[in-house]
Amino acid sequence: MIIAIANSKGGVGKSTIAVHLAAWLHRHGHRVTLADCDTQQSSSQWIREAAPGVKALCLKDPDTIISELPLLRQETDFIVADGPGSLAEMSRALLLVADKAIVPCKASMLEVRALDAATKVLRQSQQIRAGHPKAIIVLSMVGKHYRLTKDMRDAAAVLKLPIANTAMTLRQIYADAPGQAAVVWDLGSRAKEAAEEVDRLFRELMPEAVSSSTPRLKAQRQRAFATS
Ligand SMILES: Nc1ncnc2c1ncn2[C@@H]1O[C@H](COP(=O)(O)OP(=O)(O)OP(=O)(O)O)[C@@H](O)[C@H]1O
Ligand SMILES: [Mg+2]
Repeated sequence: MIIAIANSKGGVGKSTIAVHLAAWLHRHGHRVTLADCDTQQSSSQWIREAAPGVKALCLKDPDTIISELPLLRQETDFIVADGPGSLAEMSRALLLVADKAIVPCKASMLEVRALDAATKVLRQSQQIRAGHPKAIIVLSMVGKHYRLTKDMRDAAAVLKLPIANTAMTLRQIYADAPGQAAVVWDLGSRAKEAAEEVDRLFRELMPEAVSSSTPRLKAQRQRAFATS
């Protein structure tokens, strides 16, 4: 399965979610590749240090995304693609091959309104591909006492995008994690709440990833994948 983390707006939490999702899927025994489609290549660097069992690769142009990502499906259970900020042609290519899209969005009315423009390429792809990739908004950097307002729910409904029940709270530990070359569940007690939050979020987004095959079988497949 190819999961694209996509929002053409910059700084909304794409790389933070991509790296944590890739590392979380790996922890659950899957063979995972993180495809970094951003020219800054920050998420591939981060994942190499934080979860060396995840394969990391950088895809630099739309043609490579279209030709290579589908091929990788054969050797990987999950490909998590960290989308580029503003490069529309890269996003278009990614959304033409993705099975699922996660759309991080900051939780303000202005940001949700901007989603119309920021998800244009996603909707084009859904029109062409009979509704694929299936997409869901994840609210990111929300305040601790945040509540989803009716305005925001309505704005998302107009775009026909559901909103995940679990949001990512604004926490310093998420911003610190790349500097520590780690994901939050490796950062001890001060990251406990963040670790629980991402676990809850990914269980909601990827329920299929926490069942299937026995742990021993998974470990064998992961070892073979890591050495391939
Ligand atoms: N939940 C959060 N709480 C606090 N800081 C966060 C959170 N999520 C992300 N950040 C920080 O916000 C900044 C932007 O996040 P990130 O790099 O994940 O966004 P992005 O969408 O990938 O950006 P770009 O479009 O530039 O690639 C980073 O400094 C990151 O550490
Ligand atoms: Mg990024």
